[in-house]
Amino acid sequence: MLIEIGLLFVTLFLWLYWYIAKNFGKWEKLGFPCISGTFPWGSHKELVTQKKHLNDLFLEGYQQFKDKDYFGVYLLGKPVLCINSIDLIRDITVKHFNNFVNRNDSNLAGVLEGGDMDQLWKNQLTSLADDEWKDVRSTFSPIFTSGKMRSMYKFMFEIGSRLTQELETKAEAKTDFELKDTFGKFSLDTLATCAFGIDPDSFKDKDNKFVKAAARVFINTFSDNIKTFSRFIPGVKSLHKFFNYSIFKPKETKFFTQIIRQTIEHRRKTGMRENDLIDLMIDCIKEEGASAVQEKEVEKLDANANKDIHEQYEKDMQFTHHVKQKQFSEDMIVATSLVLLVAGYDTTGMTLSFMGYELGKNPEAQQKLQDEIDQAYEKNGGEMPDYNTIQGLPYLDSCIHEALRLHTPVGNLFRACNADFKLTGTDYWVKKNDLLMMSAIGIHHDERYYPNPHQFNPDNFSKEARQSRSPYTFLGFGQGPRACIGMRFALLEAKVAIAMVMRKFNFLPSDKNPDKLELDPTSQLGYVKNGLYANIELRA
Ligand code: HEM
Repeated sequence: MLIEIGLLFVTLFLWLYWYIAKNFGKWEKLGFPCISGTFPWGSHKELVTQKKHLNDLFLEGYQQFKDKDYFGVYLLGKPVLCINSIDLIRDITVKHFNNFVNRNDSNLAGVLEGGDMDQLWKNQLTSLADDEWKDVRSTFSPIFTSGKMRSMYKFMFEIGSRLTQELETKAEAKTDFELKDTFGKFSLDTLATCAFGIDPDSFKDKDNKFVKAAARVFINTFSDNIKTFSRFIPGVKSLHKFFNYSIFKPKETKFFTQIIRQTIEHRRKTGMRENDLIDLMIDCIKEEGASAVQEKEVEKLDANANKDIHEQYEKDMQFTHHVKQKQFSEDMIVATSLVLLVAGYDTTGMTLSFMGYELGKNPEAQQKLQDEIDQAYEKNGGEMPDYNTIQGLPYLDSCIHEALRLHTPVGNLFRACNADFKLTGTDYWVKKNDLLMMSAIGIHHDERYYPNPHQFNPDNFSKEARQSRSPYTFLGFGQGPRACIGMRFALLEAKVAIAMVMRKFNFLPSDKNPDKLELDPTSQLGYVKNGLYANIELRA
């Protein structure tokens, strides 16, 4: 018996070795610059042992091969082509988008195959592939047009008032506070209100179930990683499916799902309408087929500061697709609400936190921003400026973009090839199912595009500075049709929050932060190890 067990382990080990190492040497044989792979980690041992964050590892890779257009790595056993050239980034994300529609290769996509709760993650925008992705993206894109964003403004303003109340107590206490604890509440309440139709009031109810569940979704433990890796073993997916075993935060997923279903049910029964994202999604499903065709024409942007970046981005985001006459179900709304929460909560909370941190450290930029915001308030008789005015403040827009550049929450963009593509300027064919990666953080810290790249300098986004470089040097929201669908929502939310906060308070630096911030390898996005702190005082 012992011999049989021993043989089983040896066979398993040999299979694992073959599975991981079979592609090692691909880049070396092609003569591509690369980081070689070793069993069992691939190129990045620290990723698996959680010693370094993915963003840091790919930033190091970018910097090592900065002068090359591309280089290869092995993510575990998967060869990944990392693209550094701005022109190639444009080709992949925009010009030849139809060859790179997907984000995950079939192996990665398969990881989400499992029990019912995992299926919900599989069927949402960030993970869907090919025509299924195009159907959902085309159907729900209309909920983020600027016209629709106007109706979100009132929710954001209301929750912004809670944020400023909370900050008043922080100012009175005169102690350092963790920024994402506070800004995360603003971001969470905004999304919960707009995409789930509930108000967790996380500023008051600190033990709120919604708040706790959302926080848990963003922590990846070692055991979570092991469960995820287990899905690469042949047969495991099918077993998990058969036993309806879900691995991606099933308890929290179930909890969120119930809330959305209850909201939809309540709206249907009562006919109540809030004009929030849920109502807009219900509308889209009703109108699906007739109107869910992405128009090539760019929607006219109203009063948007730094209009040129926004116009280029919106134009590149368009794609033509006719949604098949297939019935969209309530599950599509559930899956989409889930992804809006996951994609929008931490990203926006982090962006606001980094802004607070940088404004505290850069009093001149803070003063310039306050001057711009004060003028807008004064023009409106001392009251919160309206939607158009907030959208039209150029320095506010520049500060947010600069925070996103310097501390990019989504540090790496992935694309999987869905139709063979000859890499522009080379003889190399990217094959179907090959994985490509673009380091947004690497580009954002490259002094060829941003002088003194480690400094917070909102003038990096002045009109002149922007016109002096390619628009594809800013990847904070990605680029092309697969870029962030919630960009308008996120920017509006951040603008409302910062305008309301800057009108009343000054951020001050905190001694609690180390001189050099270190990313927490366990945070899904790149947040800071041990948190990010600031002080705040009421303006004189
Ligand atoms: C400052 C805040 C945010 C940042 C920095 C951010 C950034 C990004 C990035 C970089 C991507 C990937 C783009 C690519 O692959 O080219 C993305 C995708 C996405 N984002 Fe955001 N995002 C933010 C806020 C939001 C918000 C508020 C929502 C929803 C309300 C949202 C929803 C999504 C969705 C659904 C996707 C997947 C799109 C698809 O695959 O079709 N994001 N985001």
